[in-house]
Amino acid sequence: MTYLAELASPVDLEGWRRWARAFALAGTPGEAIEWRVAGEEAGLFQPEPAPLPGAEAGFSVPRRFLQLAETAICHRDPERFALLYALLQAVLRQRDILAVAIDPLVARVGGMAKAVRRDIHKMHAFVRFRAIEDEGGGQQFIAWFEPEHHIVEAAAPFFQRRFAAMRWSILTPERSVHWDGVELRFADGVPRSAAPSEDALEELWRSYYAAIFNPARLKVQAMRSEMPEKYWKNLPEARLIRPLVENAERRAREMVAAMPALPNPQPQRPAMPSLGASAMAEAQAVTRLEELRTQAAGCRNCPLWAPATQTVFGEGPEHASVVFVGEQPGDSEDLKGRPFVGPAGQLFDRALGEAGLDRQKVYVTNAVKHFKFEPRGKRRIHQKPNTGEIRACRPWLTGELATIRPKLVVALGATAVQSLIGKATSLRSVRGQVLKTDNDAEMMATVHPSYLLRVPDEALRASEYAKFVEDLRLVGEHDPSVRMG
Ligand code: URA
Repeated sequence: MTYLAELASPVDLEGWRRWARAFALAGTPGEAIEWRVAGEEAGLFQPEPAPLPGAEAGFSVPRRFLQLAETAICHRDPERFALLYALLQAVLRQRDILAVAIDPLVARVGGMAKAVRRDIHKMHAFVRFRAIEDEGGGQQFIAWFEPEHHIVEAAAPFFQRRFAAMRWSILTPERSVHWDGVELRFADGVPRSAAPSEDALEELWRSYYAAIFNPARLKVQAMRSEMPEKYWKNLPEARLIRPLVENAERRAREMVAAMPALPNPQPQRPAMPSLGASAMAEAQAVTRLEELRTQAAGCRNCPLWAPATQTVFGEGPEHASVVFVGEQPGDSEDLKGRPFVGPAGQLFDRALGEAGLDRQKVYVTNAVKHFKFEPRGKRRIHQKPNTGEIRACRPWLTGELATIRPKLVVALGATAVQSLIGKATSLRSVRGQVLKTDNDAEMMATVHPSYLLRVPDEALRASEYAKFVEDLRLVGEHDPSVRMG
């Protein structure tokens, strides 16, 4: 006898778990189960609907199995439910089987999970939003993407976090996902045959989705309860919420203050705060930086991406008046995905503090966004990027500077100088001068903090460090807005 186990969706892990638990408890062999997703075409013969599984009785499985199942179930392979069931049976026979990487079943399911993770990563990196105006004159962002696997649900929280204050939709052939500032909503996709061109995307969104996606206005209260303020500081995109709200309120006050003091024959209605152009410009700048960050995540402009863990993009306020540019991420930065967080970054933080500057007020980035290294045993030894690599990475730095439009760019070391002024130049010849970058910002150069870590002589190291702090102090004099307090 063959049993039919029907799942509510292609990624219905809960449903799969209920069935699998019941089948495993009853000792049902895998060959006796036909897994089917509701709404998908049935095979030629009709299996018996399986008796509904009881939810209570059970057994425990290692957490690692559940994590693996949660990812592997998103794979496109129709065999995935059966493979996971076979793996569950194997785990029940031998609890530590997942550690046996060469076991064919473990390897196959592990490979599926890996492919899914790669697909999710690609979606995070390559989704491109396009801004459109909705009926209310507000802004809405839409994107089209074609994932290989069933990953829309798994990939969506990333966009929710990153673009929390935007309203956006991502359309794919199988699923669409919509964020209105409060809630994520999933709906059907757009058939691949109807894949829209760039221009048709907007039309498609209007005809198919605008109706089902009734965008909430910016619901500050709801957003606060969704994302308590105490967490805002840890979420880069949450920086947006406060400026949006504050700008809206400030603009409303400014509008009221700017009203002519003439008697108005019309009874006045209280001014409603609305998102003003400046708030939107700010939001756009973040979006542009986020877009750059997302695009840079998939950068293949030079070979450095391959051995590196990830692209390390800049971070800091989107309208920082001072931008610091280092050379390239180091080992810790490569692993954590953030600039200047390793030993050089700690020294940099200390010197910034001694110079009275606030790191939260400046933007910190690198000339080259991938870690270049040479493996030596278990260690990865830093290698200086060459001219080709600096040039290949330059569009990202130029994009950051064009978006942020800082008043002052501080080059930390010769690689940053080379990237900013377009030619190899000795640091000594430019240190202490104010030069112009291509973006018309002023540029100052100083040493790289990792140089200070390498100076062998203690007395020399101390005096070089003091000179570095002095250079940073000059930055604060040049632009007092980045000082602490
Ligand atoms: N050195 C750099 O130039 N950048 C970093 O992010 C870390 C070390």
